[in-house]
Amino acid sequence: MSDDDELRLCPLPDEVSLLLAELAAPPRLVAHLRLVHDVAVRLVDWSAEHCPGLEFNRAAVLFGAATHDIGKALHRAELSGPGSAHEPAGRELLLAAGVAPELARFAAGHATWGPDSGVEDLLVSLADKVWKNRRVPDLEDLLVAALVRAGGGERWEQFLALDELLTAIGDGAEERLAHQALFPTA
Ligand SMILES: [Fe+2]
Repeated sequence: MSDDDELRLCPLPDEVSLLLAELAAPPRLVAHLRLVHDVAVRLVDWSAEHCPGLEFNRAAVLFGAATHDIGKALHRAELSGPGSAHEPAGRELLLAAGVAPELARFAAGHATWGPDSGVEDLLVSLADKVWKNRRVPDLEDLLVAALVRAGGGERWEQFLALDELLTAIGDGAEERLAHQALFPTA
């Protein structure tokens, strides 16, 4: 049984798998994108069930999660070290591959968020944090606010519901980190 089978990761969207193969993307990058995409699936499934009034494009979130770090195929040092050159480079790479700007934007914007961020953008950014159990209160607060606007209820109720989900996802972080570390950066 492979490690992927053990983690039961959702497969990446087909067009993303093809693109990563064409780029000869490093195995570590592919593993990371699969892990963050898998967490994004949990976030969108939960959001749709918990808050049916929350409007967002599920396919866009999943595409964004699956491609957010694709610029690291070009800036490989950023797979194991700091740096943000991969962000604009990832967007450009996707645009050059014919991806629409509204789907390419996640590669450039996943590391920043604010009151004007769309729900899709918040979910991609959140998936890229909580996969390793990194909790980011200001990011989570923006999603809580969107849940309150769309679904009503008290802010503390939405906060607790989201916190319960993120805690459950975070419980798998060690296993995900160990899995990712199995894959070489080049
Ligand atoms: Fe990432």
